[in-house]
Amino acid sequence: MVLRLLYLSSFVLMTVAAVQSPASQSETSSIFPPGPGRDALIRVCSDCHGAESAVAQFKTHDEWTKTLDEMANNGAQGTDDQWNQIAAYLDKHYTLIFVNKATADNLATTLDVAPEVAEAIVRRRTDKGPFKTIDDLKAVPGVVSAAIDARKDRLIF
Ligand code: HEC
Repeated sequence: MVLRLLYLSSFVLMTVAAVQSPASQSETSSIFPPGPGRDALIRVCSDCHGAESAVAQFKTHDEWTKTLDEMANNGAQGTDDQWNQIAAYLDKHYTLIFVNKATADNLATTLDVAPEVAEAIVRRRTDKGPFKTIDDLKAVPGVVSAAIDARKDRLIF
């Protein structure tokens, strides 16, 4: 009986983990991380294909910019403020982060850190060579471990 319960609970955990990956987002909008831009994305990006499929894959900042242009051409409609919020929201939650190549500006938006911290990351890279592990990155003063862990699937070294 105990074994059976253990088996069942590990199955439930596995299911929860699967639901959290962007590729298998459910129909409910509750899966979108909270924050500025979330409401705008759900409003502007749901009409034609559902907001979930709009964020089904990670892209680079430039690819997202291009996608947003294409969606505007497809007929997506939002205010300037909504478009800006969506762009920032995508950068923060769905953009690939090239830890060893990104500019300080790009790191500030994608990692959501202060400009000084982004510059410290670039300086550390220039002084000591490329980052090799997630822990190297976390060791830069001002970098918050939890914020890096939240992005671990999108970090490219
Ligand atoms: C007026 C309809 C419409 C709206 C609104 C819309 N899209 Fe799309 N979207 C499309 C169509 C049509 C396609 C498939 C053809 C294409 O790729 O342009 C598509 C495909 C996509 C794709 C897959 C193809 C790719 O370029 O990766 C993504 C991602 C995407 N949309 C994101 C978004 C986002 C983000 C928003 C909100 C800003 C949005 N869409 C709003 C019509 C729309």
